[in-house]
Amino acid sequence: MSLEGKTLIVTGGNSGIGEAIACAAARSGANIVVDYVVNPAETDRVIENVEQAGGKAVGVRADVTRLDDLRTMVRKAVDTFGGLDVLVNNAGIETRTSLLETSEEDYDKVMSVNLKSAFFGSQVAGRYFIDARREGLIINVSSVHEEWPMPGNTAYCVAKGGMRMLTRTAGVELAGRGVRMINVGPGAVATPINQSTMDDPDELERLESAIPMGRMARPEEIGDLVAMLATSTAGYLTATTVFTDGGIMQGGLGL
Ligand code: BGC
Repeated sequence: MSLEGKTLIVTGGNSGIGEAIACAAARSGANIVVDYVVNPAETDRVIENVEQAGGKAVGVRADVTRLDDLRTMVRKAVDTFGGLDVLVNNAGIETRTSLLETSEEDYDKVMSVNLKSAFFGSQVAGRYFIDARREGLIINVSSVHEEWPMPGNTAYCVAKGGMRMLTRTAGVELAGRGVRMINVGPGAVATPINQSTMDDPDELERLESAIPMGRMARPEEIGDLVAMLATSTAGYLTATTVFTDGGIMQGGLGL
């Protein structure tokens, strides 16, 4: 299967899992739209990587927490590549703060970047797919923490829990209209979001010993899953989550 002639928007495609998704889809021949807010140079680097991988890419200045900018992103896909096939709501941040420590500002930021962006991104893309009479796919990069508590990262878990219900509820709403929604739920991935853990040998050892596969995921392993879902004709999958976590959620407590 190929993504030749298909266009994906990958939000937060400038680094980490997003960049890996863009490159994996490009290896199957896709066109990619990557957004940036303040760092077009990073986008230029990703565009080069996408082109080397065999795809085409374009950057667009867009803040995913703003509805108008989400519309701009979809318009960019249509103007540049003639349409949109897959929206990947990947942009995400975390503050690693507990309930008692989280400021109002941090809460708003985490909810906007992780959840509001996915909610309104899905709305804008959903309307586009329906109006254009195209089959559409929305993939939300969620986390094991859409259902598995991570004490000390409360706002993030609340946002990912919201993403879980976004995909289930809106996925059902759109199921009869040719639009599917799927969450991908990674465990611990070696990306900038986990830099502080990777820089602390004790913390890293604690994390890896909790993972049945004994290691963090490489971003490419998540990128390949998203590209596989985008490529596949297994078209009966919607309103649910595919976890990719090295077994961490099933780890259990050894005796
Ligand atoms: C979080 C990481 C965490 C990982 C596994 C991810 O969603 O961003 O901070 O290490 O889940 O628990």
